[in-house]
Parts: sequence; structure tokens; C-alpha cells
Amino acid sequence: MDRGGHAANPSSATNLARRTVAVAALAAALVSAWVYRDAWGLGPDRAGAADSGAVAAAHPAAVHLGQPRTDQSVNTGRVLSAGPVSELDKELLVRVRQANLWELQAGRLAQTNGSSEAVKRAGLHLLDGHSRLDQIVREISAALQLPIPDEPTPEQQEWVRQLRASKGANFDQFFANQLRNAHGKVFVVVAQARSTTQNSVIRDLAIEANTAVSDHLEVLEDTGLVEPRTFDEVAKAVLK
Ligand SMILES: [Fe+2]
Repeated sequence: MDRGGHAANPSSATNLARRTVAVAALAAALVSAWVYRDAWGLGPDRAGAADSGAVAAAHPAAVHLGQPRTDQSVNTGRVLSAGPVSELDKELLVRVRQANLWELQAGRLAQTNGSSEAVKRAGLHLLDGHSRLDQIVREISAALQLPIPDEPTPEQQEWVRQLRASKGANFDQFFANQLRNAHGKVFVVVAQARSTTQNSVIRDLAIEANTAVSDHLEVLEDTGLVEPRTFDEVAKAVLK
């Protein structure tokens, strides 16, 4: 894939090519979410739940904190025999869900409000990774009867508001730094869960999340817009 450099004078043919790449990337995200269902053995599609992952942030009311989903079509056999669930496992489930909810919105906003091709490319990676992760999280929540939130944290909602209010270079700068900051911090939680969980399903979620977070760190850094202060803030938060 193109590493996302700028084009000074994009032609209409180039724009068409970019739109084609964007559509192909989103189609790949939906296909990968569909393929994932069989790989995880979590049962048949639930009325297009996986394919709705990319729009979950726009319609997040399907899952309510304190009221876990009880979809009867989910095959819970593997999930229920997967092992004990720790408080850190539960935290991982919630943190990944919250990341999905705000990053799906951020990924879409990158396509409309961003100016850098590298930022738009990073946004497509967010849409891809978090569509897949949200399918996994919702299936685990349903099977284990563990509540997950239906909206991002107030802080994340504020970030989305700021992204929505920004355009062009200002959007690009805030997008790259805020998302790099958040990914740097959640990466540690993912690693802790991966290292300690006794639950095989949570372990697989941590592996998927690790892959997604690593990818998102990379594409955000590829924008060339992440500032030293962002790395310093992450270091201050995670190195204790
Ligand atoms: Fe992400």
C-alpha cells in the first residue's frame, strides 16, 4: 500500500484512484470481519452485526452498560469454557470497546476533514482495525454476559468533538497527536492482558488488539506529524 505521501497537484485520475483505494480498503475491512467469524468459531452472523461494525460509532445504542447483550444466535461453547476472567480482562474488553467507538468516528472524520493523504490512510486503518475488533468485543460481551459501554468516555467524546470542529492542517495535527497519544497508553493495557490472562478468548482478543494497535501506531507515526511532546506525555503516563 502507498505509504501516504502528499501529492502537490492531484489530477482527477489520481483522485479517482484514491477513491478506488479507499473503497477497496473498506470492502476489505468488511470481508475480513466476515472471515473472522469462522476463524473464531463464534457462530453465524447475527443479522449483519459484523458488517455494521464500521458504523457502530454512529449507532452505538445497541449495547448498554450494565445491560449485556443476550443474542441467542451466538455459539457460547468455546467462550464459556475458555477460563476465568480477571478484572484486567474486563478492563481490556471495555477499553477496546471504547477505542472502537471513538476511533471509528475519527477514521471517518479523517476522510472528510483531513488534508494529508497519510492522515486519510491512517483513518482507513482505524476503520479496518476497529471494525474487526468491535465484532470480537461484542461477541465476547454477549457470550460472557460482561457489560460493555455504548459510548466513548467523556474525554474521548471531547476529542471527537474537536476533530469534528477542525479542518485541514489543524485537523491533521490534532488527529495524529491525540490518536498517537491514546494508542501509546492503551498499548500497555493490551500487553498486560496478553501477559496475564488465563482466559483463551481474552488472550485472542489481546493478540488481535496488539496487532491493531501496532498497526495504528505505525500509520500515525507515518504521518510525520507526531510531536515530541506526545511521546513525552505517553512516557510520563506509562513509565512508572
Ligand atoms: Fe486504534
